[in-house]
Amino acid sequence: MNEPAHQSRVRLPALTTTGTLSETQVRSLFALADEYHQGRRTRVADGSVLGTMFVQPSTRTRVSFEAAMLRLGGMVTGFAELESTRAADCFGESLDDVLRVLGSVVDVVAIRHPENGSAERAATLLDVPVINAGDGTNEHPTQALSDVRLMAQALGGLDGRVIGLGGQLDNRAYHSIVPLLGMFGVRRVPLLPPPNTGVPRRLATLLDQHGLPFESCSTMEEFVEASDLVELVPMFLPDYNQAFSAELDADDATIPDTHILNRAVLERTGRTIPILHPGPRTAELSTDLDELPNFLFFPQVAHGVSMRMAVLHALLRESRERASSS
Ligand code: CP
Repeated sequence: MNEPAHQSRVRLPALTTTGTLSETQVRSLFALADEYHQGRRTRVADGSVLGTMFVQPSTRTRVSFEAAMLRLGGMVTGFAELESTRAADCFGESLDDVLRVLGSVVDVVAIRHPENGSAERAATLLDVPVINAGDGTNEHPTQALSDVRLMAQALGGLDGRVIGLGGQLDNRAYHSIVPLLGMFGVRRVPLLPPPNTGVPRRLATLLDQHGLPFESCSTMEEFVEASDLVELVPMFLPDYNQAFSAELDADDATIPDTHILNRAVLERTGRTIPILHPGPRTAELSTDLDELPNFLFFPQVAHGVSMRMAVLHALLRESRERASSS
């Protein structure tokens, strides 16, 4: 495989967290994702198989991994839900065994699971590279890599920028995003927590650890005015530590106008800042934004495929190099 010099520096045995990635690794993944997003075509996954094990629902991430692997010339198999495996019948096969079976027949595994730390544990169980596609409330590293790359692209760099994070703040995407914001010199992080709530301890600690000053805003207008770019998630998230989240309580899910981003807020504040949201959106993000050029909710999905192509490329290369040197 002929690789440009900057890409040969990516060493990536697994991807379960962004917290341990070096700036060199991240910049190399961004550069590779840029090339794929600009239309580079390779068949680096020719003959390789991606196994997906999604123990929670997904609209974007699973199909995005599948599209990425297919675009690299690879193949895909796996479980969209456990009901099709022996974990769900009278044998109650253990998840560890299901995972080890999958790991025995593929070259790389992408796992989404309700338990925090499950991807890390999978990585220790399997001989093939493991990618965390969301583990409980813990981390969602490919979403974060993709979103931060898009933020940098939208703003022409992140150094000294002010990046707002809003919605339910103790979510796995933000836990993976914050280390990357610190890495790229973001100046400040305005936060918009759900009405009548504060900043969760884990996020506050993470922001402190990565040298990111933060302040809590109480309205969407204040939040938008304070930020060069905003990312939102729903104000009310279900329990991501359950395999299939129960319906949200209708009362809890009522979002006041003060916490909804729509055209009127942008007009009142005079701001045309980039708007990201990893999905699924609920009432916090109005559909009247959909046609605006700074509304990046749908472009984010396509960028997710390019980033996952970069991640799969790096992992497969690393694993082949390891196999050939052993
Ligand atoms: N962003 C994200 O994880 O979306 P899905 O749950 O639809 O995969």
